[in-house]
Amino acid sequence: MINIAIFASGSGSNAQKIAEHFQESLNIRVSLILTNNPKAFVLERAEKLDIPSHIFNRETFYKSTDVVDVLKNNNIDFVVLAGFMWLVPGYLVEAYPNKIVNIHPALLPKFGGKGMYGDHVHNAVKQAGEKETGITIHFVNEHYDEGNIIFQSKCEVVENDTPQTIAEKVHALEYQHYPNVIEEVILKSFKNS
Ligand code: GRF
Repeated sequence: MINIAIFASGSGSNAQKIAEHFQESLNIRVSLILTNNPKAFVLERAEKLDIPSHIFNRETFYKSTDVVDVLKNNNIDFVVLAGFMWLVPGYLVEAYPNKIVNIHPALLPKFGGKGMYGDHVHNAVKQAGEKETGITIHFVNEHYDEGNIIFQSKCEVVENDTPQTIAEKVHALEYQHYPNVIEEVILKSFKNS
């Protein structure tokens, strides 16, 4: 069994879609959900899905390697960031080389980097008058939104779109593609093990 851990800071709708996707799988499952936010709705989703969760704080995350111990103790093989707001520290990237992926709600390298998350991204896309936006799934390194790109998918931005309607289109793309892309990456990276 290949065990996935998902890191999420907020609602966790992507986390839920991913967990549901792998409920049917015989060899891959989401077995842990981690968050930095004790009030995150993702914790309620985890409970409903019957997936254990773990909450950590800034001090633990940046001043110790406890989170890696938690991952190793739970036999986690692969890490998925889904709406996780904090920069991943070097020790975690090193513990899971090329085994941490993130989704960004725009077409990187545009509209990425520090401060570019959630509605900030969609507002910026609207303000820039972009004709298209989309999603980017990428490997995670120690810099915001800079790891190698694995997959992108686009949608149109029309004149009547608001940041909110753009967010809805982007979310639809996320639900459609993120679980499948995660599955492909995992199958590729564990094929010889
Ligand atoms: C998604 O749009 C994701 O791309 C971004 O944060 C949002 C998280 O939404 N990084 P949810 O928590 O999965 O509902």
